[in-house]
Amino acid sequence: MLDLTAARATLSEHYDLSPSLTLAEEMGETYGRMSRVVSPADWAIYAPYVRAINQLKAERNAVVLAHNYMTPEIFHGISDVVGDSLQLAIEATKVDADVIVQCGVHFMAETSKILSPEKTVLMPDMAAGCSLAESITAEGVAEIRAKYPGAPVVSYVNTTAEVKAASDICCTSANAVQIVDAMPGDTVIMTPDQFLAQNVAAQSKKKVVWWEGSCIVHELYTAEDLRAYREADPDVKIIAHPECTPAVVAEADFTGSTSGIIKWVHDNKPAKAMLVTECSMASNISDELPEVEFAKPCNMCPYMKKITLEKVLYALHTMTGQVEVDAAVAKDARRAVQRMIDLSQELGL
Ligand code: 13P
Ligand code: SF4
Repeated sequence: MLDLTAARATLSEHYDLSPSLTLAEEMGETYGRMSRVVSPADWAIYAPYVRAINQLKAERNAVVLAHNYMTPEIFHGISDVVGDSLQLAIEATKVDADVIVQCGVHFMAETSKILSPEKTVLMPDMAAGCSLAESITAEGVAEIRAKYPGAPVVSYVNTTAEVKAASDICCTSANAVQIVDAMPGDTVIMTPDQFLAQNVAAQSKKKVVWWEGSCIVHELYTAEDLRAYREADPDVKIIAHPECTPAVVAEADFTGSTSGIIKWVHDNKPAKAMLVTECSMASNISDELPEVEFAKPCNMCPYMKKITLEKVLYALHTMTGQVEVDAAVAKDARRAVQRMIDLSQELGL
């Protein structure tokens, strides 16, 4: 486990990380992308880290791949590529760099390593897991396969490399329906998200069966709560992620992947929007969409929130937190992930 006290001592020997209003002002252009959600005082704290990380990225020939759930200072301050899981997986195959710093959760870093074994992939905090990835093992895949002989297994990318290796193909929230529909046979097994599977089943021509995993962030929303919000404010547009229950999805005006949600808000610019997903989503697009009022509540992902500027700087400085995947597992996992990427591109997704 990362020893933060020791990490701080190391960083203070090499960098001046004291809050600086002068530096904050000099870096005003970057701040302009988050000024509605990050206070000037907080920016004075973040700016020295942002500058140090960006300098170190150039020295190490590193790129930061950041998920849409990262906090604004990471999303706008240090990332080279931002996106949903599908976009980050595709970008990992394209980036011209020696080092990838994954600002997201562990399965995302593993996916990058599987697709780019020659690159060093850094995870700023190895404890940034995911309740879905933790809900199933390769043995679990074998178990559910045995129940439905011959049915292909489509595993969400929110899984470990071992689970991907035991699956026929992966999917993300951006392509799940199309991937399932493209599978042979009448029945398709989806792991590990029961709610994504049920939402896919409602749109797919296949019979979908599923593993009983769930996302601890999205399962908290209830249809009753959303109905109460809409009753209190009939103009609010409700936009949900497909990891929510089917009852929640039924209340939504739109459902999509994290990037699909961002695109929908950009395209439609509703006066008021409630993003039924992780809190940073609304924060990250607040400055570019000042005409949209984002209604609360939101739920925070405790895993995503383990990634901080301080941990990113420490990982890049020390080159620690390197993600490794066993070569044989990586080979089989790559087949499942690459098959998803190829099929998505073929389908124009
Ligand atoms: P997206 O692929 O939609 O970004 O979702 C990833 C995730 O972990 C959502 O909880
Ligand atoms: Fe996993 Fe849910 Fe967090 Fe996404 S929001 S990383 S699915 S726990």
